[in-house]
Amino acid sequence: MLNVDSIPKAEIHLHLEGAAPPDLVAALAAKKGVDLKGLVQNGRYVWRGFSEFLAAYDAAAAVFTTPEDYEALTRSILEGLAAQNTLYAEFFVSPDHAEATGVSWAEYLGAVVRAIEATEKTHGITARLIPLCVRGYGPENAKRVAELVAKTAHPYVTGFGMAGDERMHHPRDFAPAFDLAREAGLKLTAHAGEFGGPESVAVAVEHLKLARVGHGVRASEDPALVRRLAEEGITLEVCPISNVVLEVYPNLAAHPFKKLRDAGVKVTISTDDPPFFGTTLTRDYREAAETFGLSAEDLRGITRTALEAAFCDEPTRARLIKRLDEAPLAS
Ligand code: ADE
Ligand code: ZN
Repeated sequence: MLNVDSIPKAEIHLHLEGAAPPDLVAALAAKKGVDLKGLVQNGRYVWRGFSEFLAAYDAAAAVFTTPEDYEALTRSILEGLAAQNTLYAEFFVSPDHAEATGVSWAEYLGAVVRAIEATEKTHGITARLIPLCVRGYGPENAKRVAELVAKTAHPYVTGFGMAGDERMHHPRDFAPAFDLAREAGLKLTAHAGEFGGPESVAVAVEHLKLARVGHGVRASEDPALVRRLAEEGITLEVCPISNVVLEVYPNLAAHPFKKLRDAGVKVTISTDDPPFFGTTLTRDYREAAETFGLSAEDLRGITRTALEAAFCDEPTRARLIKRLDEAPLAS
C-alpha cells in the first residue's frame, strides 16, 4: 500500500478564497451578520454545477473583509498543506475579489505575505502568488488588474493568470493584459480546456503566450495539440478531483491524466478549490495514484515536474528540488 502521506508534494493550482474552510467562512459570516443563504450546511459547501460553483465561490470570498481575515485564511491553508508534507504552494489571488469586499490590492498582498513569511518560519513551507484576472469581468478590467499587479514588484508575486468562465470572451482580447504582465517579468498561466474544448487551449496558449495552462485537460481530444504541448514543454496544472466533481469527466477512470502523461505532456496534480470539491492535496495524489497506476516514485516525479514549472526564482527552485531529493523515500 502506497504511503501517500509521506510523499513530498507541491501545489501549483490553488485559489486562495477557494481553499477557505467552510467552518471559517460560516464563523466569519455569523460574526459579520452576513446571510450565506444555505451555502454552508453540516460543515460543507452546498452547490451544484459549474455556474452555481462560481456563485458559491464568490459568496464564500465575500466574508473576507479585512486584511486580518486574509492573513488568518492564508495561515490556515498553509498550515494544512504543511501537515500534508507540501514543500511548495502557489496561490491564485484575486485583486477583484478583495476589492469587492473593500480590501485594496496593497492590503490584501500585505496580509497574504505576512502569513507566508510566518508559516515559512514555523512550518518550513514556501509559497508564491499568482494574481488573477476574472475572465467574465472582461478584457478592460483584466488590463487594469495587470497594471495594478505590474506596479507591485513584490518578490512573492511571480506570475499572472486568468480564471473564471472560459466560454466568455476570446483569449486574444486579453493579450494586452498578458503582454503587460509578461513585460513586468511575470510568468503566465490561464484556465482553459476545462469547460472549453481543445481549441480553447490552443487559442489561449497562442494569444497569451502561456508557460502553463490551468487544467488544459480537454487538449487530450486533439492529438496534434497534445504533440504541441509536449514539444513546447507547456505544463498542465491538472486538478483531477476538481474535474470529476465539476463533471468535466464522469469519474477518474475517464480522466485523460494518464493519456496526456504517456504522450509526454508535463502534467502535475493540484486541487483547485479543495473544500468545494471534498478533496485535499493528499487525496488528489492518492486517488491519482490508485486510478492511474502511479508508484511512489511517479508521485515524487510529479512533484518534481511541479517544482520545475513553479513560478519562483531559480535559487528558490534549486532549494526546493534539493529538499525533494533529500526527503526520505516513502516506506
Ligand atoms: N475559479 C476557481 N476555480 C475555478 C475553476 N475550476 N474554473 C474556473 N474558474 C475558477
Ligand atoms: Zn482553478
